[in-house]
Amino acid sequence: MTGARLILGKDVSEGIYSELRDRIQALKGKGTTPGLAVILVGDDPASQVYVRMKGKMCEELGMRSVTITLSATTTQQELLARIAEINRDPGIHGLLVQLPLPSHMDEDAVINAVDPGKDVDCFHPVNVGRMLTGDPVFLPATPAGVQQMLVRSGIETSGRHVVVVGRSNIVGKPMAAMMMQKGEGADSTVTVVHSRTKDLPSVTRQADILIVAIGKPRFVTADMVKDGAVVIDVGTNRVDDHSSPKGSRLEGDVDFDSVKLKASAISPVPGGVGPMTICMLMANTVAAAEAAAGVIR
Ligand code: GUN
Repeated sequence: MTGARLILGKDVSEGIYSELRDRIQALKGKGTTPGLAVILVGDDPASQVYVRMKGKMCEELGMRSVTITLSATTTQQELLARIAEINRDPGIHGLLVQLPLPSHMDEDAVINAVDPGKDVDCFHPVNVGRMLTGDPVFLPATPAGVQQMLVRSGIETSGRHVVVVGRSNIVGKPMAAMMMQKGEGADSTVTVVHSRTKDLPSVTRQADILIVAIGKPRFVTADMVKDGAVVIDVGTNRVDDHSSPKGSRLEGDVDFDSVKLKASAISPVPGGVGPMTICMLMANTVAAAEAAAGVIR
């Protein structure tokens, strides 16, 4: 291989946003403006950035955006009360609580409190179960974004060996579940590898499509990748960089410079999967608003 084709979330998301704009216009014509509420507890700087980006994208698309910022000392009971309030609000179609939560809160209890019909993160056990059985209401944003990158880049997934590196609830587990389903952008043979896997490189080398979400900078090196593989890097690691004005930079889980020489297609960090997460979150919110307005798709 002399160099891989780049798969850029920015390009892929543009196509999806253009479809969403049409659907939002149609909804507004029926008197419904899709609304997303985001709850942020505490002052984690990365979470603040993500929450701001979500609100900004809602506004750009002409959707309603409500951001609720609560202090790090908020009690779990107070948070649950705010969630219950939004669950009842007919003008809000999607609700998400930004993670991580302060350590005194029980994350599962908070996730379980979100109305499954408004759970645009697809974190509620009801929605995780429906995704697993192949009858999804929502799909989780980051794995759904990866799947759209594959589909819209014309990458065949049927019958191909997908190796997922990482087993988180947000990416690895749902990613594996989605790729093994029947249908477009799936029908794959799936293997999941993680920190306890023995001889992990011998498995990643078998991947036709390698999806990496392990949260370790430059974890995947060229010797772990088969010639011609498609490599999707979900990693977003902030690493020290004294040559940058910020003092840090974003690095993926893949050693891009060496792996790009071996892969047939690769997503970079930043600019790869990143823009897809918010895009798919917007798509879930529009879908929730359509369901509330009785639009059949
Ligand atoms: N924190 C990191 N990723 C996510 C996400 O997809 N949703 C929420 N709610 N919090 C996150």
